[in-house]
Amino acid sequence: MDTLYSATKPTNKLTLGNYIGAIKSWLDMQNNYDCIFAVADLHSLTVNIDRNELKENTYKQFATFLACGLDPDKSIIYCQSHVREHAELAWIMNCNTYFGEASRMTQFKDKKQKNVNVSVGLFAYPMLMSADILLFNTSVVPVGIDQKQHVEICRDIAERFNSKYGETFTIPAPFIPSTGYKIMGLQDPTKKMSKSDDNENDVIYIEDDDNTIRRKFKRAVTDSLNRIKYCDEQKGVSNLLTIYASMKNIPIDEAERFFEGKGYGELKSLTAQSVIDVLSPIRNKINELMANKPYLEEMMRCGAERASRIASKTLSKVYRRVGLVQV
Ligand code: TYM
Repeated sequence: MDTLYSATKPTNKLTLGNYIGAIKSWLDMQNNYDCIFAVADLHSLTVNIDRNELKENTYKQFATFLACGLDPDKSIIYCQSHVREHAELAWIMNCNTYFGEASRMTQFKDKKQKNVNVSVGLFAYPMLMSADILLFNTSVVPVGIDQKQHVEICRDIAERFNSKYGETFTIPAPFIPSTGYKIMGLQDPTKKMSKSDDNENDVIYIEDDDNTIRRKFKRAVTDSLNRIKYCDEQKGVSNLLTIYASMKNIPIDEAERFFEGKGYGELKSLTAQSVIDVLSPIRNKINELMANKPYLEEMMRCGAERASRIASKTLSKVYRRVGLVQV
């Protein structure tokens, strides 16, 4: 079976966007690939984050993976910093990436504009992400559309490395889900629903309680055409239709037909309900798992051991290829 790799970074609580754009497709693909999923805690250090918050988010994201149905018997699930090879291969990636190509990453450019103090780590983010992917001979990387450019730079680095040093890495391809690759904010549907949004009403967190979910959807911005149709002119309505279709596992045109003749009020309340139906059992499971940190730590250790076995082989091969003496 081909290998699939993906991760989320614990800078904040996971959102409905993370669930629909990433975790949901991981679940769908879990039976068809050798899957490896990580909590990318080292990536969180690229921004200023409180250490207690980072710890809590890391446990919680790991618990969320399990609560959503990622199965440690089928897949390798671990924390990035528990496998030292990530940081080591990232250095090799840094040395094989041009300053100019890394400077072109839109996420870096956006974040650089918003933050005064930008770390070298933020600049090197895509090279660490490339190391994550390439350590495991990955063929497929399921991500939301915002991460596509990072998977593309990873391909470029891997191809260049292979032609300079000989075949070493499998060339990975991004997998972008056809529905829900970019869930938008509820208050501002022109921008991505994001963990780091200042406006809490823009974002549904996986752990939001049912009433909060209802309240946030009630306040969601719709449009003025008074028609429930998926189209560019109706970003708010289209976003709600996308969320509803994803939660119900149906195509968007089927969701449109379902809402034919109904009003915006119903669109909001039924979409809220569809989200509650999916997230509420997940939230309960997260709470259960968070009450048992020793279990989570044991699962983390098991995952890291399995991941290290693969990663250390790849790293040794890479070190040999570039001419580092192995003793
Ligand atoms: P992160 O934590 O920002 O996002 C995790 C995943 O969620 C997707 N996503 C969305 N999808 C749809 N709509 C949205 N509003 C939305 N917001 C986020 C992201 O595209 C992503 O797939 N760099 C990665 C973490 C990472 C990684 C990796 C991913 C580290 N190493 C290796 C893949 C392979 C990130 O920023 O995740």
